[in-house]
Amino acid sequence: AVALASGAQATDFPAKGKNVTIVVPFSAGGPTDRVARDLAEALRKSLGATVVVDNAAGAGSSIGTARVARATPDGYTLLLNHIGMATMPSLYRKLAFSVPNDFEYLGIVNDVPMTLIGRPNLPANNYKELSGWIAQNKGKINLGNAGLGSASHLCGLMYQSALKLDMTVVPYKGTAPAITDLIGGQIDLLCDQTTNTTSQIEGQKVKAYAVTTTQRLQTASLKTLPTLAESGLKDFQVTIWHGLYAPKGTPADVLAKINTALKTALKDPEFIKKQEGLGAVVATDQRIEPAEHKKFVQAEIDKWGVVIKAAGTYAD
Ligand code: MLT
Repeated sequence: AVALASGAQATDFPAKGKNVTIVVPFSAGGPTDRVARDLAEALRKSLGATVVVDNAAGAGSSIGTARVARATPDGYTLLLNHIGMATMPSLYRKLAFSVPNDFEYLGIVNDVPMTLIGRPNLPANNYKELSGWIAQNKGKINLGNAGLGSASHLCGLMYQSALKLDMTVVPYKGTAPAITDLIGGQIDLLCDQTTNTTSQIEGQKVKAYAVTTTQRLQTASLKTLPTLAESGLKDFQVTIWHGLYAPKGTPADVLAKINTALKTALKDPEFIKKQEGLGAVVATDQRIEPAEHKKFVQAEIDKWGVVIKAAGTYAD
C-alpha cells in the first residue's frame, strides 16, 4: 500500500541520474554476465536509464538471488538468473527466499544450449574418443561447475547419471573461473553454455565434444559438434533459459515500464545479433509476458524437482 501511495515516485521511473542495477548471481566474464551485459546495453536505450551490472556470485546463484529478494522494490534493483531459479527450490533445504512468492516476474530473456568441453591437453579429439578416455579414467575425472543449482551443475548431474558414473565435482563461483582452470588443465571437463564457450571453442582454447540440445546447432563454429543424444545418450537434453526479476512489491506501473522496455530490448537487432552469434535464441513477446514467465518457472520447478529428487543431491 505504501508503494502505491507514492504514485509520483513510481511514474517518475526511471528517475534522472539514478542507475538501474541488474544483479548477476555468478562471476563476471561468465555466461550469465554475458547475457546481462548485452541486455543492459539494450535496456539502456529502451528504458532511457543507465543500466549497470553487479556481480554477486556464490552458492549456485542463491547469494545474489537472496540479495534481490531483500532489495527495495522500486525497480532500481533487478535480477537476471537462469534455470537455477527452478533448481534451487529442490536443491537447497534452506533458501533465504521463495522463488514463487518473493519476486515479480518480468519476462524470459533467452534460451541457451550447452556444450561439453574439455581441457586443451585432453588426449580425446572427439566425443567417441572421449567416451573411451572416460572409460579408461574412471574415478580420476574432475568435472567443474558453478555450484549447486547452476546450469553446469545440472548438466553435469545429468551427464554423470546418463553414464552411470561419478566424477569428482569441482565447484566454482561461476563458469568464468571454471573455464580458466579448464584451460590451465586443473580440471578435465565442463558442461557450459555456448554464451561462454563459443569464443573459447573458436579460439581452440578448449576441446569441444558435444552439444546438449536434441538438434545440432546452426552457429558456424558449433555445427560440426554431435548432440549427446545422437552419441548414445538417448533423450539427453538440457537448454538453459534466463529470466528477469524484480523484488516482490515493486509498483505495477514500474513493472509495466520495465516489461515494455524489455520487449523492445529483446527486439534490438544488435542484441539479437550478439546473442545469436553465441548460440542463444532470444525470447519473443509471448514469453516476455510476466504471467507466462511465472507459469513457465513453476512448470520447470516441478519438472526439475523430480530429476533432483531422483539424483538425491541436496545442500543445506
Ligand atoms: C552456470 O553454470 O550456471 C553458469 O555458467 C553460471 C555463470 O557462471 O554465469
